[in-house]
Amino acid sequence: MNLTTSTDGQILGRVKCPGDKSISQRVLILGAFMNQDMVVDGFLNGEDPLSTMNALNQIGADISVDEDDRVLLRKRKQSFHNSDNALNLGNSGTGLRLMLGLTSGMGLKASFCGDESLSSRPMGRVINPLTEMGANIEALEGKLPISISPSTLNMQYKYELPVASAQVKSCILLAGLASGAGIEIIEPIQTRDHTERMLSNFGANIETTFLDGKNIIKLAPNNILRAKNYTVVGDISSAAFLIVAALISNSPGLEIMNVGMNPSRTGVLQALKKMGANIEVKNQRLESGEPCADLLVKQSKLKGVNLSGKIIPNIIDEIPIISIAAAFADGETTIRDAKELRVKESDRLKAVSEGFSALGIMHENFEDGMSIKGAKDQLIIDQSISIESYDDHRIAMSFLIAGLKCSKPITVKDCKNIFTSFPNFIEITSSVGYELEK
Ligand code: S3P
Repeated sequence: MNLTTSTDGQILGRVKCPGDKSISQRVLILGAFMNQDMVVDGFLNGEDPLSTMNALNQIGADISVDEDDRVLLRKRKQSFHNSDNALNLGNSGTGLRLMLGLTSGMGLKASFCGDESLSSRPMGRVINPLTEMGANIEALEGKLPISISPSTLNMQYKYELPVASAQVKSCILLAGLASGAGIEIIEPIQTRDHTERMLSNFGANIETTFLDGKNIIKLAPNNILRAKNYTVVGDISSAAFLIVAALISNSPGLEIMNVGMNPSRTGVLQALKKMGANIEVKNQRLESGEPCADLLVKQSKLKGVNLSGKIIPNIIDEIPIISIAAAFADGETTIRDAKELRVKESDRLKAVSEGFSALGIMHENFEDGMSIKGAKDQLIIDQSISIESYDDHRIAMSFLIAGLKCSKPITVKDCKNIFTSFPNFIEITSSVGYELEK
């Protein structure tokens, strides 16, 4: 599915932010594990959470989504069981890495597969600690296809994260939860803490302390969790596309309701505010243990900034759209320490660079980032331009938003991957004044 932009977009109105993808996946996994009746509102009914739901149902969970996108988790009649057919996690790194933790912890026999992108991503980062914990895992050079066979995990495990990754952290915590093991994780750089918050919300004995500049996360052994209904807050990573759309277009004001404001995710607001963005945060509140708020965003004159170090894991999913904001800012923006972008759904540094080259945006590439020379005004396009999305949702949406600043429509190729994280992107952009054509 290719999408073509339009040239007269003026972003204004009020929209509800789609549900958070990371939280939607986690609530399915923990909900299924707790095995009590439970209802989840605000769920992201997108392809990634749905592949996680299907994988959980395949090993015995009883989860469905109704026509209002409410998730119904029912107490199972059977215990979790092995699966003869491979669990297919599609495009979802979170789904695969967290399910590997859960199923290893439960001592199941299972095999895993996914799409082409997921099959090329590094899984050694979870296979290594799980193997140290006692899991039996077979993989081809640390990648899919992966199979696990029944094992009993050690009763205590301590691990210092060698890479800033919430998926690795969560995988180990879930393996500990499911096996009853006590876990201590040393986290040198803060990553999103949805798993810790959700475990605590459901009554687990988990605490994080800060020592010598690092987080120490301790999950006590043998937790008994209590299910309760859950409301998923909106995904700030999805909101980021709408925020930048309003900032770079002629927008008198766009309201985005119900945006997740977990401090381990709000780096994108800090970065954009440092660039001069006019973003008002209103009605701050707490929903199922996660902060959220409504945002009012207005067109702003942006300037270039330097982004590196500890903020990078916090903005890792937003760097492509921040790069688009930088492309229309005054001055230069430099992004460093972001090598992880090379192993996301695509090599996002390469994909952004190629899109910039197609649009004539001046930039320099580094192994761990890039510097971008802002173009400030509208880009004058005199021939039809097609941009490769590399089948990556965040690349596709980033360049579709860049289309707001192009003098002629541009086409972004292979946009169907948008359905993994932002299924109503085309409807929402249209409802705020920006038409995308199939
Ligand atoms: C996620 C963690 C991040 C992020 C991904 C979702 C999660 O990945 O990029 O989109 O839900 O835990 P890493 O843990 O690989 O950094």
